[in-house]
Amino acid sequence: MDIKISPSMLSADFANLEKDLKRCEDAGSDLIHLDVMDGHFVPNITIGAPVIKAMKKVSNVPFDVHLMISEPLKYIKDFADAGADIITFHVESDSDVNETIDKIIECGCKPALSVKPNTPIDAVYPYVDKLAMVLVMTVEPGFGGQSFMADMMPKIEKLRADYPTLDIQVDGGVNTETVKTCAKAGANIFVAGSAVFSSDDMAKTIMELKENAKQ
Ligand code: DX5
Ligand code: ZN
Repeated sequence: MDIKISPSMLSADFANLEKDLKRCEDAGSDLIHLDVMDGHFVPNITIGAPVIKAMKKVSNVPFDVHLMISEPLKYIKDFADAGADIITFHVESDSDVNETIDKIIECGCKPALSVKPNTPIDAVYPYVDKLAMVLVMTVEPGFGGQSFMADMMPKIEKLRADYPTLDIQVDGGVNTETVKTCAKAGANIFVAGSAVFSSDDMAKTIMELKENAKQ
């Protein structure tokens, strides 16, 4: 399986997004993870499509947009037009899951579905055949810098056993140590916010994340 590192811009310097996008690109990021929060699905508000559209103009790395919003279906076109490559939404959202996946595909993006920590992985099973990726959250969505929940690993193990070629992403508390646990469980795409941005050598940290995921 392809191993990919997706730095979360939630930990970037919001006054210098262009600079941090370039730093991620130069440091070997495979994807750029963009956390969209609406203050309703999660208790925090971040950025929307206009900011992503501006960021897209100054980045060559594919955009991995993680929608933590109550009504993703309403906004799929906006995020696709803004330049999203992958659009991930939550199975716990209020939108119809099949309709939302179809809309993402119709807009030319790759659809992905995510589960919060308290949601069983079975919730994604009816949709997996249509999905490009499944995101298993390893923190309660809403904030960066939280502790990794190792008890989510059985969900990844089950999904990997049932879908050997599916892209499985993890998000929350991933660092050069916890990445090993996630990779062993079967994940192959790793979001990392604080681990990447708190590093004084971003390229080294991204390389270490990749190397440690291979072991
Ligand atoms: C949390 C977000 C994450 C967050 C990860 O709700 O979905 O993408 O930025 O940050 P770290 O890697 O610091 O846990
Ligand atoms: Zn995220």
